[in-house]
Amino acid sequence: MACGVRVTRDSTNYENRKSYQVLMANQRKVAVLIGSLRRESFTRKVANALIKLAPPSVVLEIVDIGGVSLYNQDLEPSAPRDWLALRDKLRAADAVLFATPEYNRSVPGVLKNAIDVASRPRESNAFNGKPGAVISVSPGVLSGFGANHHLRQMLVFLNVPTMQQPEAYIGGAAKLFDESGNLTNDSTRQFLQNFVDSFARWIELILAGNR
Ligand code: FNR
Repeated sequence: MACGVRVTRDSTNYENRKSYQVLMANQRKVAVLIGSLRRESFTRKVANALIKLAPPSVVLEIVDIGGVSLYNQDLEPSAPRDWLALRDKLRAADAVLFATPEYNRSVPGVLKNAIDVASRPRESNAFNGKPGAVISVSPGVLSGFGANHHLRQMLVFLNVPTMQQPEAYIGGAAKLFDESGNLTNDSTRQFLQNFVDSFARWIELILAGNR
């Protein structure tokens, strides 16, 4: 669904989100991987909006992937510390949210690299079985569809049960935020609310099935 799609439910803004350190009982930890390092990234702004809109059953935390060394299989016997830290953070999460821009009709290298690092060694793939969701963001009209679906292809191999609906393609992203990075578009806010609420339900469904 594009950002202009309207949903009928009321949106609830859960401001001042908790971090992993102050989880309430039964809250699910969601690691958020963002495929942009740009200071004014629209994708990061969308992720920040989702963090604020998330219902109390989930806590979304952005995992920094900008410092993750390039993947090189030769380094596995003494893996770089930043690889181990990323793998640990993802293993500690209950679920993963991927927020990505589109670079040349695919995902940016920084996100692909983080996925490759966290997916290895193969027998301890940090994503294995974790519920996931994908949201693509672009200033253009195609809304990152290509990146969104390349990512979904990877998630099949990584055994990430990925939420199918609502699909989330956020286009026209340059027009959605004010100068402080706050979301100003009401229909996008309603769409994101439905997306993150649906993801919270998806997480419970998948984790119940994993028990
Ligand atoms: C882009 N951009 C772009 N946009 C798009 O919709 N489809 C595409 O295939 C590409 N390809 C592409 C390649 C490279 C190398 C760059 C730098 C940019 C434009 C891109 O969507 C835009 O720069 C966004 O603002 C990037 O997302 P963030 O950083 O704002 O989150």
